[in-house]
Amino acid sequence: MLSNPGTRIYHPEKRAELLSALYTAQDQYGWLSPEAIQSVADSLDLTPGQVLSTASFYTMFKLEPRGRYTIQVCEGLSCYLVGGAEPVIEQIKQRLQIGPGETTPDGCFSLEVVQCLAACDLAPAININDRLYGNLTAEKLDALLSELEEKD
Ligand code: FES
Repeated sequence: MLSNPGTRIYHPEKRAELLSALYTAQDQYGWLSPEAIQSVADSLDLTPGQVLSTASFYTMFKLEPRGRYTIQVCEGLSCYLVGGAEPVIEQIKQRLQIGPGETTPDGCFSLEVVQCLAACDLAPAININDRLYGNLTAEKLDALLSELEEKD
């Protein structure tokens, strides 16, 4: 037991819940706002700084607002070998007027470029809100974006 009164003792089981708490908060709010970070910290008896340092380590956690649909375009090797991310990014740029790291003004779509979606056998691949779309073609992407725009 630490005897320094300024030292905070952290409950190991609570800290073990940090990743799932962050995932739940992001799922609920769409991103990890300062308020969401504080809420997770309070619920697990951690400091906001501890929560933020973990959240900022993982690319799956978003620390800025993003669109209702986050499109992740893979620029990994397998996808590169079948055409690469550039044509997909260009198509999205033309259609939605956003580049990597940007969100449409209506808050509908965000675009990210990632290294590998672990679906190399389905290259080229993209993810939209954690749902994988493989063997992507320009026509498939167009249809997919139309479908999402109609839903929104
Ligand atoms: S390189 Fe694109 S899914 Fe693996």
